[in-house]
Amino acid sequence: MPRLALLRRAVLGLGGALLAGPPDCADGAANSAMALPQPGDLLVAETSGQSPPPRPLRPHDLPSGGPPVLAWPMDEATGTVRRGSRFNQVLLVRLSVARLSAAERDFASRGVVAFSAICTHAGCVVSGWRASDESFLCPCHGSTYDPGAGARVVGGPAPRPLPALPLCPTRDALTVAAGFTAWIGGSTGRTD
Ligand code: FES
Repeated sequence: MPRLALLRRAVLGLGGALLAGPPDCADGAANSAMALPQPGDLLVAETSGQSPPPRPLRPHDLPSGGPPVLAWPMDEATGTVRRGSRFNQVLLVRLSVARLSAAERDFASRGVVAFSAICTHAGCVVSGWRASDESFLCPCHGSTYDPGAGARVVGGPAPRPLPALPLCPTRDALTVAAGFTAWIGGSTGRTD
């Protein structure tokens, strides 16, 4: 199948998943660990273990002005950490509110904004940080994203911003308000 058709099918599939809302209750814990972040999910540090359920992150757990922290969503009801898919990895950073665009302030939690950690170029984990201009940095081919402007691309080959993960502004713990705002993954098909 041509790449464009594969890409279109992937987009439609993920779009359907996003519109479908929370998984059916018949889904077991294994499926729950694979599910995309759901409204009401808490966020836990990437290094957390599964048992006992890890402590949810709070805004002040993150250093102000970066660097970012990698995290996983966690089902609040069951304590299941959704680490079953690398596409669930979340990139968190805490910035001054003045640094955030007006649009971002609506889905930030006390200056913390959340995005997919999967680079939109070729799917690497965006694990780097450039402190000089507070930018996310992908270690694979050098794409940079501005977390204060919706993670728009400011350098490198990435073709689109990192999808945002809206947060609830009123909860003490970092809590997912809605699913990712766009489909997750790189545009060149790389998945490792
Ligand atoms: S995978 Fe991130 S810049 Fe290429």
